[in-house]
Amino acid sequence: MPNLKEAQKRTNKKVLVKENEYFLNDALKVLGKDKKYFIKTYGCQMNEHDTENIKAILEDMSFIETDTMESADLILMNTCAIRENAHNKVFGYLGRIKHLKETKPNLIVGICGCMAQEEAVVDEILKKYKWIDIVFGTHNIHNLPNILNTSMAKKRLEVEVLSIEGDVIENIPVKRDSKYKAWVNIMYGCDKFCTYCIVPYTRGKQRSREPKYILEEVNKLVKDGYLEVTLLGQNVNAYGKDLDINYGMANLLEDVANTGIKRIRFVTSHPWDFTDEMIDIISKYDNIMPYIHLPLQSGSSKILKLMGRRYTKEEYISLFNKIKEKIPNVSITTDIIVGFPNETEDDFNETLEVVNACKFDSAFTFIFSPRVGTPAARMQDGICLKEKEQRLYRLNELINKYSLEANQKYLNKVVPVLIEGVSEKDDNMLVGYTDTMKLVNVEGSKDYIGSIVDVYITDIKTWSMNGKIKND
Ligand code: 5AD
Ligand code: SF4
Repeated sequence: MPNLKEAQKRTNKKVLVKENEYFLNDALKVLGKDKKYFIKTYGCQMNEHDTENIKAILEDMSFIETDTMESADLILMNTCAIRENAHNKVFGYLGRIKHLKETKPNLIVGICGCMAQEEAVVDEILKKYKWIDIVFGTHNIHNLPNILNTSMAKKRLEVEVLSIEGDVIENIPVKRDSKYKAWVNIMYGCDKFCTYCIVPYTRGKQRSREPKYILEEVNKLVKDGYLEVTLLGQNVNAYGKDLDINYGMANLLEDVANTGIKRIRFVTSHPWDFTDEMIDIISKYDNIMPYIHLPLQSGSSKILKLMGRRYTKEEYISLFNKIKEKIPNVSITTDIIVGFPNETEDDFNETLEVVNACKFDSAFTFIFSPRVGTPAARMQDGICLKEKEQRLYRLNELINKYSLEANQKYLNKVVPVLIEGVSEKDDNMLVGYTDTMKLVNVEGSKDYIGSIVDVYITDIKTWSMNGKIKND
């Protein structure tokens, strides 16, 4: 069972690197024979990547993927706990699954991901959703075969959630969604404890993967023909700080650049750990993409302090300007929370001021959502929801204005685009991303899928642009 008190703890216990933890005996390898699975994923890239691991584990057990929940024998929901609406969506979806379960009693239903790490959520499942078969946490993914086996044999709810700081399991298989782009975990967990954020409780303490495992993975991806890797962590600039070696994010970026992979991205950065050395390495290597996601959260130094972000408005702006100066053509995006407890109109105006100063390429914006167990959820808050919604609206208007302005600079220019596939909206169009992470709808032959091509930009929108392949 998850336990909030345990999840809050940070000790000096050594993180273990486990190379043989994931193991299937012969019986487990056929447990899913003639059965289909369906996974619904919520939340961040880390969760998407966990789903890629879960898919590979299920396929090791002979399950076959299906893309409709109705045809599945096993339905898993990989959940997100970051805001209340993510939480509500999961409980809404569970309502639909319950109907299916009534008509299909052998259907196995499981919940995993960040919500499974929340004590209050699992309590609710035990009380009101007894028909669910398995609940497993973010530290238990490698043990899914055994959890499933026990639940299927005993036909009862099986909960396996560890509220631990966590280890690093190195031998979990992966079934990647794309043949061209891959996510690579470089670290797990987070020790920043921003006061609004649930992640340090659901994902455990910061544990960096040793460089040799990361480089092995990237080298293999290069060999398999992958063009792009995104290095993943809650807080990637702090990479390596928990290892006993003198090796940080700048070193890792340089070593990954030297593998020869065509494109390197990394998310998410925290302004606090962003070193000059990192900026130098990013500008030095052409295969490290000029794109940085740098969450601001608030433009008011008072609110930033209450959030526990450990930088001021001025420090953020100066880091932003340094990055813009030193990395040519860089695009910078951000995350902003409005309506943090007691954010005044003046505080909010300071956020708008920073947006006016930085003119972000784009931003994810949110209304503060109190998460059980975090310090911010216990703060008194005199600001009503209507006011918060109005602030979000005003902020979005400004963000959109600058997104369009940033995109307009691309009109009639030629930019490199990794063509990923066919557009979902229009069968005759291809889609891909520029080096600066702009979404482009491209006219051109399907033969270009899986390559990086020069695209001439013909039309600009707020969230995307259109273009055609140069020389086509
Ligand atoms: N309420 C609203 N937004 C949040 N985020 C994290 N926690 C909360 C919360 N409690 C936002 C932050 C973070 C992004 C991933 O989600 O902006 O950068
Ligand atoms: Fe949450 Fe802050 Fe860690 Fe990001 S850095 S995951 S916002 S605690």
